[in-house]
Amino acid sequence: MASTRRKRTSRPGRRPAAGRGRPSLLLIGLAAGFVLLPALLWLGDAVTRPAIGGPFSLVAGDGRTVTDRDLRGRFLLIYFGYTNCPDVCPTTLAEVSAALDRLGPLADRVQPVLITVDPERDTPAVLAPYAAAFSPRLIGLTGSPAAIADVEREYRVYAAIRRTGGRPGAYSVDHSSVLYLMAPDGGLVAQLPADAKAPVLAAELRRRIS
Ligand code: NI
Repeated sequence: MASTRRKRTSRPGRRPAAGRGRPSLLLIGLAAGFVLLPALLWLGDAVTRPAIGGPFSLVAGDGRTVTDRDLRGRFLLIYFGYTNCPDVCPTTLAEVSAALDRLGPLADRVQPVLITVDPERDTPAVLAPYAAAFSPRLIGLTGSPAAIADVEREYRVYAAIRRTGGRPGAYSVDHSSVLYLMAPDGGLVAQLPADAKAPVLAAELRRRIS
């Protein structure tokens, strides 16, 4: 048998045939890989991609720890921003406050939350009066840089320090601007555009929390 096999493989005409077979198999394998690999990657990503939101443990204006579990039972309207923000944050928070005022009693179902993207400067003592100036309903939350980085990651928030001078504290924070409406059980209901005016925002909220 061994001699026959040797004889066959050494026969001149066999090699091209084997050679023809191998590349076609290789091509099929490659083609399947091109189709399957992205499909598998997509599937894997869909399965492993974390949903928006998640557990957090932050610090409120009175210095008390507030976790996501403490805030369950009502809708949360979460905005990530910072007190030194020159334009977008104050505008957004003013519209949020006005929108909640328009909701009347329905507003009691929504807890607005400002989570700082500037934990270095936004201490509880800084954040609390800032939030209160927009609305007595608004809770400002801060925390350690690590805790803030964690919650930013969970909500897929973009935030990056941009230096504006040499002195410490001379910086602004570029950040994404999204309103996250979270369900009473902590799941995401919707991401609302932060540039929406109060009447639009109120209508959107009424539709989703009624
Ligand atoms: Ni801002």
